[in-house]
Amino acid sequence: MLGSPGLLWLLAVSFSLVPRAQPFTPQVSEEEEEDETVWPPLPAVPCDYDRCRHLQVPCQELQRASPTACLCPGLSSPAQPPDPPRLGEVRVVAEAGLAVVHWCAPSSPVHQYWLLLREGSGAPQKGPPLNSTVRRAELKGLKPGGAYVVCVVAANGAGESSVPKAGGEGLKGPAFGPCGRLAVPPSPQTLVHAAVGVGTALALLSCAALVWHFCLRQRWGCPRRTATRPAAGL
Ligand SMILES: *[C@@H]1O[C@H](CO)[C@@H](O)[C@H](O)[C@H]1NC(C)=O
Repeated sequence: MLGSPGLLWLLAVSFSLVPRAQPFTPQVSEEEEEDETVWPPLPAVPCDYDRCRHLQVPCQELQRASPTACLCPGLSSPAQPPDPPRLGEVRVVAEAGLAVVHWCAPSSPVHQYWLLLREGSGAPQKGPPLNSTVRRAELKGLKPGGAYVVCVVAANGAGESSVPKAGGEGLKGPAFGPCGRLAVPPSPQTLVHAAVGVGTALALLSCAALVWHFCLRQRWGCPRRTATRPAAGL
């Protein structure tokens, strides 16, 4: 497209027009320009910080690195343990036996996160520590058909965020807390294996029933070689 000389020429013309095509910039004289070197304070803009974004640099670091001033959300005191993070989407990949867990940072200083995974009424298993930029982690080794509870914990120098007790209120209400339920559907392979297993068992049972039936009916016709006993395998 751009190979066409006509288009290239058009582009060149439009670019050469750009510097002049600024009808909204008021033309100011030299003196006025000098006056305007003292700018009024810019309206404060929020920093490009998203508490739910994976690998999100802490807002304070954005503020330090930013050439223009920007605003960060307020945080609780670093002398207090962080508020609980909010669990987001939990995507289960049943075939791989894993789940991808997302969360959002609390309005608190956080040094690290980790996941807690509890199967049924068992003891919770603690995942590896994740740095404060992380908002997404994988849970591996989930059993097909398993039912789990997953919680996100945030920690800083003053302690760690609270986790609702097993079977407590936090797990029943709307999912705005640090925990959520996670059900792994039985994998298709498991279903196939189960079907094959049940089918084999049924076939063996029918064979056994048939053999038994014929041996009973033709009691004396049933081959009974007591020396080798081939029927024992059935
Ligand atoms: C935090 O952890 C993530 C994932 O492991 C990694 O990519 C990132 O570089 C780490 N950031 C820092 C500041 O250590």
